[in-house]
Amino acid sequence: MLRREVRYVSSAATTRRQSTASGLHFYQNRQLELYAAKQAQRLSLRQLVFFGRSMNEERLIKSANYVREELPVRIAHRLRDLQALPYVVVMQEGVSKVYELYWSAFEKFRRFPPIENLEDNEKFCSFVRTLLDEHGAVIPSLALGLSLSSPNLQPDQLDSFMRRMLVSRISRRVLAEHHIALTDSFTGRERDTDGEGHVGIIYTGLGVENSVRRCTSLLRELNYVVDGASPHDQLVRQWPEVIVEGHLGTRFSYIREHLEYMIFELLKNSMQATVAKHVGATELPPIVVTVVAGEDNVSIRISDQGGGLLNPKLKSPSDLFSFSHLRNATRMEHSRLGSLRSASSHPAGMRATVEELVQRWQQEQRQQTEDVSVAVKKLETEAGVGIGLAMSYIFARYFGGSLELVSLDGWGTDVYLKLPKLGTNLEGIEV
Ligand code: COI
Repeated sequence: MLRREVRYVSSAATTRRQSTASGLHFYQNRQLELYAAKQAQRLSLRQLVFFGRSMNEERLIKSANYVREELPVRIAHRLRDLQALPYVVVMQEGVSKVYELYWSAFEKFRRFPPIENLEDNEKFCSFVRTLLDEHGAVIPSLALGLSLSSPNLQPDQLDSFMRRMLVSRISRRVLAEHHIALTDSFTGRERDTDGEGHVGIIYTGLGVENSVRRCTSLLRELNYVVDGASPHDQLVRQWPEVIVEGHLGTRFSYIREHLEYMIFELLKNSMQATVAKHVGATELPPIVVTVVAGEDNVSIRISDQGGGLLNPKLKSPSDLFSFSHLRNATRMEHSRLGSLRSASSHPAGMRATVEELVQRWQQEQRQQTEDVSVAVKKLETEAGVGIGLAMSYIFARYFGGSLELVSLDGWGTDVYLKLPKLGTNLEGIEV
């Protein structure tokens, strides 16, 4: 049940039971206020790398305690945001689920004892891993709840609420996953980084061309998954070629999962648009990815010939980033809501990494060889939730980058992704 009553402490508690409950709620709400009054300690990529680079036991314990103290502060801010929503919104399917999850995580973090040694840290990491899993479906749940609530919120209010929720969630997961990865490295549980080098979850020599190629081949795997599942996927049987040009040797420090989330989403959109625009053509025009290493930024332009963003209901391409149905009418579409509903009830919610997504589809296809349409359904479910572009926009801006779409109506779309190279920007203000 929703803990909405936390906000309304009865002053006329008559029975003993009531007064105990009110006391508890008063206490919990007081704790929330105390944490929400604290400022988040925002970090930059460079700080995360610098701190994690020369690890020892003392620093690892310090990192654990930072995460233990910082996460409940960030969660408390978002709980406050949720409480400020109209009641009808917070009671909405999806939003109420997230509110519950956040209260529970807040309470658990708040009560977690200080970490004093490596053994405590192992317990802490396994506690955090469980929470990361439990929160796997937060984004589709929120997107579902807010889409359903869209008629009750002004577009600016809805979008700024969603932005804060998503930026903050990214930030919490970055801190949590970074600490777990630092622990894994320290205790010899190394991860495979394809030789790109890493500190925690940050790749210190992330090759942009490699990431583009990895995403391209993952999208082709996806083609493999649906191959033969006619008639629906005649459309996706053949993907256009992806040409990568520009400064091909570009490497920088970044979170690979974030970069590849964006590239995967953007390439997927370009591929789908190209295929849809050129139905029946024997050859598809290629997608051109241009990588440029500037002094402060890495820029990636993705150009397709998929017809552009011709949509009479769209006032500006940036409306595609919006969660409000007044800016982006697809938010209230039945099929979108249905896809969000199933993604929000899936334990993993949305994919954690691109590889996991493809692995899941492949596995499913292997298990269901007699019914390939199940795999296709899954593809539609994940592909149709429509939050990939909005999430990419949030990811791009998280460490001070940008994402812009330019439509050459009737011809194609150019996407400009710019990411800071030096890692000195602090996380977004809304963590
Ligand atoms: C989230 O994924 O929403 C989180 O807050 C994760 C955190 C509790 C580790």
